[in-house]
Amino acid sequence: MSDPFFHTWQAQRGAKPFELRGGEGVWLETASGRVLDFGALVYQVNPGHGHRRIAEAIAAQATRLAVAPPNAVYPEKRELAERLLAKAPKGFTKVLFTLGGSDANENALKIARLVTGRYKAIARYRGYHGATFGAVSLSGDWRRQAVEPGLPGIVHVLDLDPTITGTQIPRVMELEGNVGAVFLESVVGANGVLIPPKGYYEEVRAACDRHGALLVIDEVLAGFGRTGKLFGFEHWDFTPDMITCGKALTGGYGTLGAVLVHERVAERFEEHVLACGLTHHAHPIGVAAALETLRVYDDEKLVENAAALEPRMRAGLLALRGRFSEIVGDVRGLGLLFAMELRLGDARRASLSAALREEKLHAHLKGPKEIRVPEGFPESALVLSPPLCLTAEELDEGVARIGRALAKVA
Ligand SMILES: Cc1ncc(COP(=O)(O)O)c(C=O)c1O
Repeated sequence: MSDPFFHTWQAQRGAKPFELRGGEGVWLETASGRVLDFGALVYQVNPGHGHRRIAEAIAAQATRLAVAPPNAVYPEKRELAERLLAKAPKGFTKVLFTLGGSDANENALKIARLVTGRYKAIARYRGYHGATFGAVSLSGDWRRQAVEPGLPGIVHVLDLDPTITGTQIPRVMELEGNVGAVFLESVVGANGVLIPPKGYYEEVRAACDRHGALLVIDEVLAGFGRTGKLFGFEHWDFTPDMITCGKALTGGYGTLGAVLVHERVAERFEEHVLACGLTHHAHPIGVAAALETLRVYDDEKLVENAAALEPRMRAGLLALRGRFSEIVGDVRGLGLLFAMELRLGDARRASLSAALREEKLHAHLKGPKEIRVPEGFPESALVLSPPLCLTAEELDEGVARIGRALAKVA
């Protein structure tokens, strides 16, 4: 009989659970020993594991005020909102606190409908926005197909597919009509680390302005230093209308998401009802975790560290491409978010997964279901996202482990 709880996104029989005991920095303690975490678990543990300051802030919050309804005001909630808005571009004036990334996108979609009166939204096939119903409808990969028919009115585009240059969004927006929102991961994360070209967002922004659509940038994975800037979209020159956050907002230490809202969108709700809110929204434990995590990013200069280590990670992975050129394709990344494309086929992908386990390295190995590349392109990708407290020595150690795992399947 399988475990008395469901393992998500897989069949239950034969599920390979991750038996976690604890961890420190970039290291995980698992039932089978010490594992070097090059995935930040599921991209959320940017401050590193076992962070005492964050744990103590949570404990202190639990003793002070452990429960609050979503309409309560308490000092940490106010401080967190102010800190987030101070880090957002000029003109952002409101935060809606949510449970996590999926319902941040869910609420951004509702806000876009309430403000524009339009239900249509554009998103990318190679994008992921969460697993709740609206968010999974926005997503482009197999996880959407698993629950279709999804929300009506969501149109997907091929932007960032290797066969497409530039953006289809302006043309699709024109042909479709009545588009209320565009949802884009600033840098596509889990589906293969896709970095839009220079000028891409500026063009999308102009199209949204022409058609009266709101531009929602999903920073759930790319945000909070992952790409070497606090928000991924800061690599381009434009201002979104809403920014959705989750994951590393709390470093994974609490459940909290947020929608950051520009004044031009927020102002509508001065006089109209904001029809959003769940019982546990802005929960004090998540808020305390997020507040301390933001302080840790600043005090430990973790965003700067991610930016500083980017060239070393690129050089290490390119050296592996040189050694294993018959299986390694493109290597790309920003900050400490990298993808190494791989030509493996199903059997060798399974062997690489086993080899990475033997090497005690945790990373995200993706297959054709996730990255959905056209025929002729590498069908797998190893996505790397270590905690941002990584040192140069730990980086080299991780790259060496990947090298040994690749040697076993090459
Ligand atoms: C870009 C992006 N958006 C949204 C989500 C959903 O976040 P959560 O699963 O925390 O609800 C994810 C999760 O992987 C994500 O990568």
